[in-house]
Amino acid sequence: MAFAAQRSAQALVSDAAPRAASRSSVCPRALLSSGRCLQKAVPAPSAAKSVQPLSNGSRAVRTQAVAVDAPASSSAKPKSQYEVFTLTTWLLKEEQKGTIDTELCTVISSIALACKQISSLVQRAGISNLTGLAGAANVQGEDQKKLDVVSNEVFANCLRSSGRTGVIASEEEELPIAVEETYSGNYIVVFDPLDGSSNIDAGISVGSIWGIYSPNEGCTIEEMDDPETMMQKCVTSVCQPGRSLLCSGYCLYSSSTILVLTIGDGVYGFTLDPLIGEYVLTHDRIQIPESGKIYAFNEGNMDLWDPSVQEYMKSLKNPDNWGGKPYSARYIGSLVGDFHRTMLYGGIYGYPGDKKNLNGKLRLLYECAPMSFLAEQAGGAGSTGSVRVLDIMPEKVHQRVPLFIGSKNEVEYLESFTKSS
Ligand code: AHG
Ligand code: MN
Ligand code: MN
Repeated sequence: MAFAAQRSAQALVSDAAPRAASRSSVCPRALLSSGRCLQKAVPAPSAAKSVQPLSNGSRAVRTQAVAVDAPASSSAKPKSQYEVFTLTTWLLKEEQKGTIDTELCTVISSIALACKQISSLVQRAGISNLTGLAGAANVQGEDQKKLDVVSNEVFANCLRSSGRTGVIASEEEELPIAVEETYSGNYIVVFDPLDGSSNIDAGISVGSIWGIYSPNEGCTIEEMDDPETMMQKCVTSVCQPGRSLLCSGYCLYSSSTILVLTIGDGVYGFTLDPLIGEYVLTHDRIQIPESGKIYAFNEGNMDLWDPSVQEYMKSLKNPDNWGGKPYSARYIGSLVGDFHRTMLYGGIYGYPGDKKNLNGKLRLLYECAPMSFLAEQAGGAGSTGSVRVLDIMPEKVHQRVPLFIGSKNEVEYLESFTKSS
């Protein structure tokens, strides 16, 4: 057995802590040029659309009807007033239907557990001295909050103990990590353990985001005899396009804790009932409204945006384009919170590239791709302004891309400016 396989599980968890030095035996920094993948980028297919002028001079995109399955209720009629339809029951039924296998169920359950734990930590942050900075920066140069670090550890612990996860990649880790205690499954999990953490000290909504891929080439712990090969395989394993996702989801920590996920057959939302400690199905087959007159952009950056995005924003604000009532602005600064509202009310969330950051701020692997999978599964769309997010082959673990996501018609309207510029 290789050296690494003899290391204790606890050692692996320490490796998962966001300190580059403590990770170095598993993810040697020098071995790779900043987590760069070796795959070739695949050109994205262009989406068909027709842009037509309106009588008021603005542009509109005529779209085909969204092809989605007719909503089918997951929950049978309750046999008793005390019956609850929980995430556990839903997973069992999906397993019975053959949509997912037992091993993927186990991975999803372990993520749901991590989110319960994070929810509790977030709620008590002010009481338990978990507000404020951790005193370090992550590989992307962002100051880590204490809760970023703790949530990362919680996610890593839960996934490790699921016994079904082969590789994990996190916003808070420089490189992917091979999980030692894997008995079978070997799923690849990418995650943003705490999204919107700049809001945490003010008690404003935050969340977690994840995506699950099936194993590909794999990076097994046995290969640690050759750490360089193993590390490259780990990076290659996680660098998959979003269209290969098996599952993605987010958990919103807000006035209630809501876990929303897709396994490629619609989108479901479960609200954590704190009294019984279970996620209860509350949002059956979520559909994003086809249009919605709400935009969520950080307009402080507007002067730095590409002129096409500036033009688009001006058109949303011009009452003459919209029968006298312009779009409404709503921006929390937590992607999970802004996206959850967009899922339910419709509209568009955008984080464009700008003069300083050509690719914007959001990360493809654990923010944009998982959210785009959810958006598409709910009848919406996720775009960079020029290509479908799910078609992008990642080149780096922490790669950033511009993101425009939400109602299908709203994303296409945005593209009518950005694609023609
Ligand atoms: P994270 O806290 O995981 O680093 O993500 C923050 C992201 C996202 O949640 C949010 O939409 C965006 O940053 C907000 O950025 P600005 O503060 O630049 O608007
Ligand atoms: Mn984030
Ligand atoms: Mn984060």
